[in-house]
Amino acid sequence: MKIDILTLFPEFFSPLISWSIIGRAYEDNKIAINSINIRDFSQNKHRKVDDYPFGGGSGMVMKPEPIFDAINSVKNKNSRVIYLSPQGKKFNQELANELSKEEHLILLCGHYEGIDNRVIEHYVDEEISIGDFVLTGGEIPAMLIIDAVVRLLPGVLRSDESFIDESHYNGLLEYPQYTRPREFEGHFVPDVLLSGNHQKIETWRKEEALKATLLKRPDLLEKKTLSKEEVVILSKIKKDLEL
Ligand SMILES: C[S@@+](CC[C@H](N)C(=O)[O-])C[C@H]1O[C@@H](n2cnc3c(N)ncnc32)[C@H](O)[C@@H]1O
Repeated sequence: MKIDILTLFPEFFSPLISWSIIGRAYEDNKIAINSINIRDFSQNKHRKVDDYPFGGGSGMVMKPEPIFDAINSVKNKNSRVIYLSPQGKKFNQELANELSKEEHLILLCGHYEGIDNRVIEHYVDEEISIGDFVLTGGEIPAMLIIDAVVRLLPGVLRSDESFIDESHYNGLLEYPQYTRPREFEGHFVPDVLLSGNHQKIETWRKEEALKATLLKRPDLLEKKTLSKEEVVILSKIKKDLEL
């Protein structure tokens, strides 16, 4: 996969490609990430990329021409052009899974009051929001999306960091995780995890994943189609918890 980020602040992305799992994926050429400065496409001798809004009002709006040229400098027939916007479709794991199958993502980061609406109407495939709040720019949302998408690409996570059991991947939250020491400040790791019985551990994890989802995010259970086994486990959990 290739990701081109169109931004006024390409420096934002240096840490992302330098550290940890995304840094390693970048280093190993599992992902090509390129940040492009929209200002480089300004026709203005002062490299200006924004202007006052028509109709008045506060703030500045990013002009259409440099963004149009920046998009066209990287776009091909397989590109998906995404504008990070508080007005977009809400980002979630399902959308991360979908985006991870794409060949080429172009992530357009707005700033100030946002971008000229003609770009959104005619040159963007979709708007994606990371939540119902407003940030100063699209750079943090772009980083968030890259992180969630890149970790799903083949070979990016090592097998012991697999995402299959993780929260949201299959519509449930993950079971609780523990590591050494066995006892910490009088608090013990559940015995079953030390039993060496893989069958029992798997059953315990299934139950705990359902319990965590029921207690922390019951809304997820309403959306998920549960297997017969999960329905049985869930009703036992509810009975035990007297819910
Ligand atoms: C201050 S915001 C502009 C908000 C715009 N005036 C509005 O009210 O819809 C500046 C930029 O930050 C980015 N942004 C802000 N909040 C966001 C969010 N929740 N999700 C994705 N991008 C966001 C967008 O790229 C946007 O162009």
